[in-house]
Amino acid sequence: MASSKSKGRVSLDERFYLSADDFFPANAGLGLTYDDVSLATRYSEVLPRMTRLDSSLSDALALSLPIVSSDMDTVTEHRMAIAMALNGGLGLLHYNMSEAEQVAEVRRVKNHIHGMIGDPAVVSADDTIAQVLARIEHEGLAFSTFPVTSSDGTLLGLLPGSTVKERHGQRKVAAVMIPRDKVFTVAEKDLGKDPIATADRKFSEHVGQNKLLVVDAKNKLRGLFTLSDIERISEESRAHVRPTRDVDFRLRVGVAISVPRTADGEIDRARLLAHVHALIDEGADALAISTAHGHTKGVGDALRMLRKAHKDITLIAGNVTSGEGVEFLAAAGADTVKIGQGPGSICTTRIVAGVGIPQLTALYVASRAAAKKGVRILADGGITKSGDIVKALTLADAVILGGLLAGSREAPGKLMEINGKTYKEYRGMGSHEAMRKGSAARYGHSASGKFSKVAAEGIEALKEVSGTVDQVLGTLAGGVQSGLGYLGAANLAEHRKRARYIRVTPAGQREAAPHDVIEIKAGS
Ligand code: XMP
Repeated sequence: MASSKSKGRVSLDERFYLSADDFFPANAGLGLTYDDVSLATRYSEVLPRMTRLDSSLSDALALSLPIVSSDMDTVTEHRMAIAMALNGGLGLLHYNMSEAEQVAEVRRVKNHIHGMIGDPAVVSADDTIAQVLARIEHEGLAFSTFPVTSSDGTLLGLLPGSTVKERHGQRKVAAVMIPRDKVFTVAEKDLGKDPIATADRKFSEHVGQNKLLVVDAKNKLRGLFTLSDIERISEESRAHVRPTRDVDFRLRVGVAISVPRTADGEIDRARLLAHVHALIDEGADALAISTAHGHTKGVGDALRMLRKAHKDITLIAGNVTSGEGVEFLAAAGADTVKIGQGPGSICTTRIVAGVGIPQLTALYVASRAAAKKGVRILADGGITKSGDIVKALTLADAVILGGLLAGSREAPGKLMEINGKTYKEYRGMGSHEAMRKGSAARYGHSASGKFSKVAAEGIEALKEVSGTVDQVLGTLAGGVQSGLGYLGAANLAEHRKRARYIRVTPAGQREAAPHDVIEIKAGS
């Protein structure tokens, strides 16, 4: 039942289940995080599937899924950023790479054409079918139809899978391929603003075709669409996933930047601005100054520099956990402030430095300061399940995920098999190894220092491989929608208004997880 006041008296529900502005001040001085609190259910006419999760990181950067992938070198490179944007979220590219590589990463995201394989496997006209078969075997390819190109990438024909058989082993590709004039192609310039719709229409018009090759004006192969990919994507778009795109229909991407210093410790203004200029030129949509301690002169100075040089770019800065920190970064030009010091699954800041605030308390304080200043906040770190996101979104505009995405197929890093299970590396940006690769400045250490003598604030770990980003985000978004349904909230603005909190005891926490059963299949 919805809580109500009658004749000035406080209802039973209102005495027990408190709004944020009653609950957190009543618990002042106590650091609360996700598992310390539960949300009360409210009268609802909202079905989870009807709920909308739209949010924004600035007036210019809207998200249909309020989830951002962390700027860590084991989480976000272009593949993750592409997958995040396709799902309505945003990827923040990490900065443990050279400036030129970071610009190239932005380019890869901005040039991505969803559904088009930009670099398809090709064969040469002089290859024999036996050579093609050997390659399929060697590379473990799951397909046997190949575009045929010359050494400069000119399209010569298509080798159909039906001819790639042992019995034709001695024949040359040239002898059995479909010649160029009979190959089903589309000119790159005709793909238009919505390449998927164009490819979908072409497949409908040409019954029986299942590969569409993209060529440029000089007949060079630029990419390949397959019918099965297009059908899958069209189905997804009917499921209301709205990718995060810019006005030119390109996917959006955020970039974490490291602030370079001159030999005397001053910000290297010329280098910083040149790099940022190159990123923006390539189409970067948001820049993040990510440090372990954002309430510092250095971060403030860098933010002011960027804001002065680029009035319209979305600026994210952090990390802080105080109201003063939020106000400081807002005044320096941030649109969005990252909240979180030490909650991350690979973080040891609280152990090593003895500082940091449990995440829900930090989010409450930050959210009230942010509202005063008209900026957004991101809940960064410590999220291990969809229920945590539901709680975070009662106070924050979006969440940042590291560990929950690090095991997905699109995260950087090689797969490792241990005792029949597959894992990927996941490490803190304050771990020795990550600092050695460049992130030392984030933790206030010198990149040229001896890392064995520097206190690491993160660990190196493994995450079990968890499927694709689509799968991970699909499950998380479903959980968040359930949360909104329970609160009777059709969108995140209502969710924030309708949230009522209660403290949970250790016994309550045990009650909340599966108990007194032998689990045979883990829930996801
Ligand atoms: P989760 O819990 O999602 O947290 O894995 C990811 C967030 O953790 C932060 N981060 C660190 N914090 N030492 C820290 O204290 C580290 O080495 C470290 N590396 C990442 C970061 O905010 C990230 O988004």
